[in-house]
Amino acid sequence: MSIKDDKAHAVSDAAAGKKGGGTILLFFILGFAASMVLGWVVFPQLLYSTKSQPFDFNHALHNEEVGDCESCHFFRQDGTFSGVPSLAQCTDCHADVLGESQDEAVFVQQYVHPEREVPWRVYSRQPDCVFFSHAAHVIKAKMDCATCHGDIGTSTSLKPYQENRITGYSRDIWGQSIAGFKTHTYDRMKMDDCAQCHEQAVEAARQAEMMDPVTRHFRQEIAPMIYPLDRQAAVGSSVQTQRDACFVCHK
Ligand code: HEC
Ligand code: HEC
Ligand code: HEC
Ligand code: HEC
Ligand code: HEC
Repeated sequence: MSIKDDKAHAVSDAAAGKKGGGTILLFFILGFAASMVLGWVVFPQLLYSTKSQPFDFNHALHNEEVGDCESCHFFRQDGTFSGVPSLAQCTDCHADVLGESQDEAVFVQQYVHPEREVPWRVYSRQPDCVFFSHAAHVIKAKMDCATCHGDIGTSTSLKPYQENRITGYSRDIWGQSIAGFKTHTYDRMKMDDCAQCHEQAVEAARQAEMMDPVTRHFRQEIAPMIYPLDRQAAVGSSVQTQRDACFVCHK
């Protein structure tokens, strides 16, 4: 074999190597794309099953008829929240069919006349281990329903309900975005979302407190002299923001 031949070999080997690299890259890109499609498109499709409500309900129409949210969603004497309305709150008006709507016909025939409660699917329902109090948020912290529920209270129809096949929980808990993006407070309501808002609320309260010179003087100068240990324990903490205070949100 001549030197020339050897050189030719070496060159063609290098070319083959380059070609192999290109193929590997191509496979890598294809595999990557396939796994992205699988993870971001196919998996969510498989993970969630879509269920419809027993019949549609028009909030906007009823708000006009009734006048306020409290006729249907109210706080009981003991401070607990009534949640989704029971049949009793509908029957005054719907003892018989009022209009032409198919949804109302289903409602009256299948639920009002046999006196059967409507099995509503609750979008915001949390796992059983979670303790949530509407009074703490709506009455005490004066928060709007829309902050956590979006515009469902003023909508003209109910969206489909999506159930996670593995956990059985509503999709609204983990949110629509598989990537975890969140633009509104109501996009999802996972543990971190509750905790994040609690931290912000406490931070805001602390800032507000710092603007009042009398309180600040008392808290920072006088209180530590009277209760030296208490003050230390209270710095940077609040019962509901400490992540390790699990019992605040869990039963
Ligand atoms: C103050 C009276 C009133 C109360 C209380 C009331 N409704 Fe209605 N509802 C109406 C009226 C009026 C219409 C319009 C009927 C029409 O002309 O089609 C209506 C329409 C409907 C319809 C058909 C339109 C739609 O898609 O929403 C459904 C279903 C319905 N109501 C369910 C309920 C349920 C469930 C409750 C209890 C949680 C309830 N209503 C409470 C007055 C009332
Ligand atoms: C006539 C009765 C009625 C009135 C008035 C009414 N709602 Fe409702 N609301 C319902 C019914 C029935 C459902 C059950 C549908 C469902 O499963 O979500 C519901 C569901 C909801 C939910 C969803 C709960 C969940 O996670 O599934 C929210 C939030 C809500 N209402 C807010 C409001 C707000 C805010 C107002 C006032 C602007 C209002 N509602 C007025 C009857 C009413
Ligand atoms: C701080 C966030 C927050 C605010 C503010 C809030 N909610 Fe809720 N709501 C929730 C959560 C979380 C749940 C689920 C609770 C559970 O499953 O234990 C829920 C559940 C509900 C339900 C379903 C209850 C059931 O039967 O399980 C209704 C109806 C409802 N909210 C209506 C309202 C209305 C009306 C307002 C305004 C007056 C309001 N919410 C304000 C977070 C909120
Ligand atoms: C957008 C803001 C926000 C979100 C979201 C939120 N909270 Fe809160 N929560 C508050 C504020 C503000 C308070 C304080 C009320 C007060 O004590 O003044 C509070 C108080 C509470 C309390 C009472 C705490 C105590 O010390 O008694 C509980 C329990 C609670 N939240 C649970 C939850 C759970 C569970 C979730 C999620 C499902 C949640 N919260 C989501 C703002 C929020
Ligand atoms: C601010 C309220 C809050 C605090 C504090 C909190 N959690 Fe949670 N946790 C939730 C909510 C809401 C859920 C349901 C939504 C989810 O899965 O993220 C949850 C879900 C969970 C789950 C999954 C349960 C299931 O059935 O899917 C575990 C486990 C858990 N929490 C453990 C803890 C532990 C341990 C702590 C204390 C270090 C803690 N949590 C503190 C609100 C809270």
